[in-house]
Amino acid sequence: MTTPPLMPQQQDVATAAARESTSLQNGTAAKSAAYRLPPGLKHSLPFYAGKPWVKLGEPIRLFEYLKETFGAIATYRFMGTHIVFVNDPRYIREILITQGGSFVKERTLQRMKILLGEGLITSDDPIHMRQRKMMAPAFHRHRIMGYADAIVRIAASNIAEWKPDAIVDANATMMVLSLEIIARTLFDTEVTEKVRGINEDTNAIMRLYNFLVAFPRLESFLHLPIPGVLQFRRSLARLDAVVDDMIHTRRAEMADGKGQERGDLLSLLVASRYEAEPDDLPGAPALGMSDRQIRDEVLTIFLAGYETVANALSWTWYLLSQNPEVETRMHRELDEVLGTGSDRKLPTLQSYGALRYTEQVFAEAMRLFPPAWAMGRKSTETVTLGDYTIPPGAHFFFSQYVMHRSPEFFPDPLRFDPDRFSPERKAEREKFTYFPFGGGGRQCIGESFAWMEGVLVLATVGQRWRLRFAGDEPPVPQARITLRPRGIVRMRLEARET
Ligand code: HEM
Repeated sequence: MTTPPLMPQQQDVATAAARESTSLQNGTAAKSAAYRLPPGLKHSLPFYAGKPWVKLGEPIRLFEYLKETFGAIATYRFMGTHIVFVNDPRYIREILITQGGSFVKERTLQRMKILLGEGLITSDDPIHMRQRKMMAPAFHRHRIMGYADAIVRIAASNIAEWKPDAIVDANATMMVLSLEIIARTLFDTEVTEKVRGINEDTNAIMRLYNFLVAFPRLESFLHLPIPGVLQFRRSLARLDAVVDDMIHTRRAEMADGKGQERGDLLSLLVASRYEAEPDDLPGAPALGMSDRQIRDEVLTIFLAGYETVANALSWTWYLLSQNPEVETRMHRELDEVLGTGSDRKLPTLQSYGALRYTEQVFAEAMRLFPPAWAMGRKSTETVTLGDYTIPPGAHFFFSQYVMHRSPEFFPDPLRFDPDRFSPERKAEREKFTYFPFGGGGRQCIGESFAWMEGVLVLATVGQRWRLRFAGDEPPVPQARITLRPRGIVRMRLEARET
């Protein structure tokens, strides 16, 4: 696999950009000679307002423009901060792994603390390391495998009432389905009655998220009675109430000696005791997690774990409806593995292992529509990437959406071709040309769960139904916290004759 060379003229622009940079790190003047910045936009971003590639709420346009114009690495400034956009797998590896210790999560993500507090996504070390270690057993491969039957049961019961020719919103259906799956498997909680409310509240929060990240000091306005903000607060309070209820019920159950044997993530969190620290007094009682910390972790897993998978599945159904030959091949695999007619069986953990093409379909859908469409980090010290030396305090972004559609790594990138993920072709591909789950120490803890859920849901639904796209226009991706289809994904149900 070849990676794009840095174009010679970029070096000149880089020097010019470095010469031009005088206000680094919140206005602290720095000697430009000490740093060698990548090529990029000459002026601060607001200068370009009005350009088609600068549009509020559509950051992917900017990333695409930077890639097309400057190549593997580009820089721009926004509100006194240097931002580096990286579109080279070697640099991404440097940021996430090799020089990972020189980075923390960047501000946009830090901002999710409004919603998620100090949960696993938003916390930094040492809290993050301690919490990740404690929660790891719940995401261990063996444990995850135990959820296969529950996933299939929930998927089957959600489609039990489907009728031929009915119209469904694939996105709403997948949201409800994956929310129930997370609640049942990881929190051993029944949320069927509350599911729609939780989903609507999450939607309201997502709508506001872009607004929140676009205005840097908005946190300080969060207590004001602005209509959108009020709605955000109400939705968050309702989500908190659902989560608090789960925690209190489980605490009470465990105090009665019940609950431990459930062995789910919620019991693990409630029962957890931190390891003694060197400066603890001898004999000091081991401390458990506060309700607040458990709330942050539970809400984090809830939101990280259902929205992402649901969006990936919605896009997969859409792509299958547009690519009948892929759909037919997937159906053939489902019929071979799960049987047909009176021999047909629901998928199981064993069949999951055999549904290789279905997994490739899911992988290819996440290439084109990665639910996590971009990631960011902030440097805490000077960082060297290739020929460039970048000051501390710079923000680094890289986008799965842009990288996964780069023709250098994925020829004919817009073609939906699950064969790109055959074992041979996967082995040939450089790491970080495809990274829907991130990488390094902050790699998605739910990755195994997501793969299994995705494949088993595709199999449970796909063995019985074909979803035909019935919308007027193709769904448009919206870059929110996840990459969601805008509006409704109308699908007509067609029963499969098998
Ligand atoms: C298709 C589905 C999913 C995708 C595409 C996805 C993607 C990602 C990505 C890219 C990250 C890294 C973010 C960063 O480093 O800045 C991440 C982190 C995380 N994901 Fe997922 N995720 C998915 C499903 C899940 C599921 C099912 C769960 C839980 C059940 C989950 C829980 C988390 C958590 C807790 C983190 C933070 C990990 C840490 O920082 O230690 N995700 N996810």
